[in-house]
Amino acid sequence: MDDLGGYRFLVTGANTGIGRATAHALAARGGRVVLACRSEARTTPVIDAIREDTGNDAVEYLPLDLGDLDSVRTAAATLLDRAEPLHVLVNNAGVGGQRGQTTQGFELQFGVNHLGHFLLTTLLLDRLRESAPARIVNVSSDAHYRARHIDFAALQQATASVSGTREYGVSKLCNVLFTQELARRIPPDEVSAYALHPGVIASDIWRRIPWPARPVIKLVMKSPEEGAATSLYCATAPVLDGVSGRYYVNCDERTPSSAATEELGGELWQRSDDWTR
Ligand SMILES: NC(=O)c1ccc[n+]([C@@H]2O[C@H](COP(=O)([O-])OP(=O)(O)OC[C@H]3O[C@@H](n4cnc5c(N)ncnc54)[C@H](OP(=O)(O)O)[C@@H]3O)[C@@H](O)[C@H]2O)c1
Repeated sequence: MDDLGGYRFLVTGANTGIGRATAHALAARGGRVVLACRSEARTTPVIDAIREDTGNDAVEYLPLDLGDLDSVRTAAATLLDRAEPLHVLVNNAGVGGQRGQTTQGFELQFGVNHLGHFLLTTLLLDRLRESAPARIVNVSSDAHYRARHIDFAALQQATASVSGTREYGVSKLCNVLFTQELARRIPPDEVSAYALHPGVIASDIWRRIPWPARPVIKLVMKSPEEGAATSLYCATAPVLDGVSGRYYVNCDERTPSSAATEELGGELWQRSDDWTR
């Protein structure tokens, strides 16, 4: 779909990396775009640049810290107050290889990458349904294949592994499970959901890599614009109408991990719902 005039998008973590490239491309095609980010100072220059570059002024900021469930509730309430449609929610923001806990005490990567997005999505679900046909795009990762199960007790504690990569894999498996469970719960002609791996992309997510190694690693990575391609495909491609719950890499459907079972998806939904009440 080339002309996105009349469609409204929300992209989380859109002040840099893949999210910024996604928001830019949507605005360039005439979409109205909300950049939901945790720093106004880091987002305002990006909005100015997107407006100037695309000539599209319908680009705005929404404060959102996914590591604080109160901030997520405030962001959703602000958006719902505006009584405007929401056609596509792109759950893009993410942390990788970081350690710690969210404001409410959840493991940092699970809390930001899954639980904050779970709450945001469920709070916006009625608005998405009213705007049908609508879409939810969950930016996961091939790192989800590394997670073989979810230790639910560990999700309520600080990151246990030294590198945080184990917990990152679990959080990305949660993105896949959440997508599949959304598809089981909502008819695809109302709201369809997609999970994806963007590729290995030279973004700020590698900020914890020691600086001498960073330029070398970035040589073999794709650009954030290339990283946005599958998000844009899932957000807008007419060929995906009526399809829901699947996993995509390079704009192609892939079989997700065998650890992504219906039983685990149901349990994750139930626990996420309990934890965000
Ligand atoms: N890059 C890759 O190779 C790769 C591979 C597979 C999957 N992914 C996934 O792609 C998505 C985008 O990542 P990226 O590579 O573009 O990384 P990035 O450049 O580090 O961007 C991440 C975005 O998430 C935001 N964010 C982090 N914590 C947040 C919080 N608590 N509340 C709200 N926003 C928060 C960041 O905001 P700040 O600028 O304020 O920190 C930033 O805007 C992530 O879900 C990541 O897991 C990336």
